[in-house]
Amino acid sequence: MTLREVLPDIHWVGAIDWDRRLFDALIPLPEGTSYNAYCVKGSEKTALIDTVDPSKEFEYVCNLVRLGVEKVDYIIVNHAEQDHSGSLPMAAELFPTAQIVTSEKCKDLVVHLLEIPPERCLVVKDNDTIPLGNKTLQFIMAPWVHWPETMLTYIPEDRILFSCDLFGSHIATSDLFASDPASLYRSAKRYYAEIMMPFRSQIKGHMERVAALDAAVIAPSHGPLYRPPDPILQAYADWVSDEVKNEVVIPYASMHGSTARMVTHLAGALMEQGITVKPFNLAATDLGELAMALVDAATIVIGTPTLLFGPHPLVANAAYITNLVRPKTKFATVIGSYGWGGNTVEILKGMLPRLSVEILDPVYIRGAPDAASLRELEALADRIAAKHREAGLMG
Ligand code: FEO
Repeated sequence: MTLREVLPDIHWVGAIDWDRRLFDALIPLPEGTSYNAYCVKGSEKTALIDTVDPSKEFEYVCNLVRLGVEKVDYIIVNHAEQDHSGSLPMAAELFPTAQIVTSEKCKDLVVHLLEIPPERCLVVKDNDTIPLGNKTLQFIMAPWVHWPETMLTYIPEDRILFSCDLFGSHIATSDLFASDPASLYRSAKRYYAEIMMPFRSQIKGHMERVAALDAAVIAPSHGPLYRPPDPILQAYADWVSDEVKNEVVIPYASMHGSTARMVTHLAGALMEQGITVKPFNLAATDLGELAMALVDAATIVIGTPTLLFGPHPLVANAAYITNLVRPKTKFATVIGSYGWGGNTVEILKGMLPRLSVEILDPVYIRGAPDAASLRELEALADRIAAKHREAGLMG
């Protein structure tokens, strides 16, 4: 258990999960994570902001006991996902007179997901406030960051924003504050790519309002806090913008080496054009790394052999995830090799309906790449470079 002061009368009472390696049975957590929860003691009333994953309930309670919290007036639920709300039933039982403060949608979710009695909930709307004495809780509705019910909580007297998952990072660290924002950039970007990128346009809409708060501290629900918040705000402004970089991401699988040879040849031809290339062999790729590369890349080239009648299942999975996270990629195409038939290219094109991409002519060949196939790949590199140049990404 760990108890840490964020600001006078505002304590971090969450839990660090050093060992967790998977989230949602999907997302790798190579650096673990934390579930940040906070206790705010006003001169008249006390509020808890979020709870922790149920696996860390004991640590959460120990922190509250060590802090000497005997009465809680409000439990703020910024987000109903169970890594933050999973200990809510226990906290509600521990503090039976506390009101559970939620958005309208969040009330519905905590009732259905956690069996919270609806009469315990106090529903707040955008800009509503709850006074705690010398501190005020102000609620900011931020739907689709990354669930529809999400809200943020701001304390104007301390200029601290509890931003829930927004601006978070999956990293277990003893640093309460980001001591070296540059070193945290990777974990924050990875988190953005995996969790927030599908909601890029909604987040863009919330950024102006968050910036206008002029917060001195941003306290997310995962990973370190930011004081000052400028580094994370600037990083998000870049990620949610429409700007792409002169980069080509190539997720691929290869069964007998033909597609791998094509990827290598195309990568070389692109590099000769001055384009940054990021190939990912899906047989050995952490999907978080792939998602992170997709944040900025102008182009995605999917490399796959035909297995039976369509794309290799590893490639189909990567295409499905790419469609889900919806990067701002501008161009896409397919390369690879088939043996005796199939409909791989058309199947893959049909798997990307959420992407606003121009599909470039694929290079899909029969068997091993011969000299003519390699020239086709070089021509594809020329086409990609021309598109990047037209888009102003290359000198
Ligand atoms: Fe960290 Fe959406 O929960």
